[in-house]
Amino acid sequence: MELYIDTANLDEIREAHDLGVLDGVTTNPSLIAKEGIDYGKRLAEICEIVRGPVSAEVIALEYDAMVKEGKMRAEIADNIVVKLPVTVDGLKACKALSDEGIRTNMTLCFQSMQAMMVAKAGAYLVSPFIGRLDDISQDGTELISQIRTIYDNYGFATKILAASIRHPKHMLECALIGADVATVPMNVIKQLMQHPLTDNGLKKFLEDYNKAFA
Ligand code: G3P
Repeated sequence: MELYIDTANLDEIREAHDLGVLDGVTTNPSLIAKEGIDYGKRLAEICEIVRGPVSAEVIALEYDAMVKEGKMRAEIADNIVVKLPVTVDGLKACKALSDEGIRTNMTLCFQSMQAMMVAKAGAYLVSPFIGRLDDISQDGTELISQIRTIYDNYGFATKILAASIRHPKHMLECALIGADVATVPMNVIKQLMQHPLTDNGLKKFLEDYNKAFA
């Protein structure tokens, strides 16, 4: 399973990159707004740190403007993936950009037919938001499972990028279902390596050692 970090914060990206297991980065307008920096400038900075796919979301809502903005973002670096919403205009823009060899990440996916349509349009990634479905008492991981089945049934090459991951259990469920990628905030990446028995066991090992040899 590939691991992306979901942030536009450079310190977090460097920290995750230094772990040696980071495959890519996802950003969105909210994450950029939090940083208060020009989107294009920040994307260029991110692409200098991470060589894997870096998702850059378009702000435009209409087809022509989406394609234009997507092409502009794609020129920043060869690892930019243009992020588009799963709207009708987004679908058309996905097809147009994919046909030109520009990779796309189709975002804000909340039902499996959206995922099937964008796969037909040649999307590189689809981003089902599992945490936000859970927030409204729907089953986020069930959506991942449905998309996995549909993609496997028809041999679609689009990668399932599980997004809006809030805790390690989300990540575990996605890995068991077979999501290709998970994009995760830094706090959850750290939680993936935590267990109280690991901490307690380590403490006891060192206490025993120091008792015997100190
Ligand atoms: O980047 C998209 C997604 O991961 C957002 O997550 O926690 O705001 O629902 P969240």
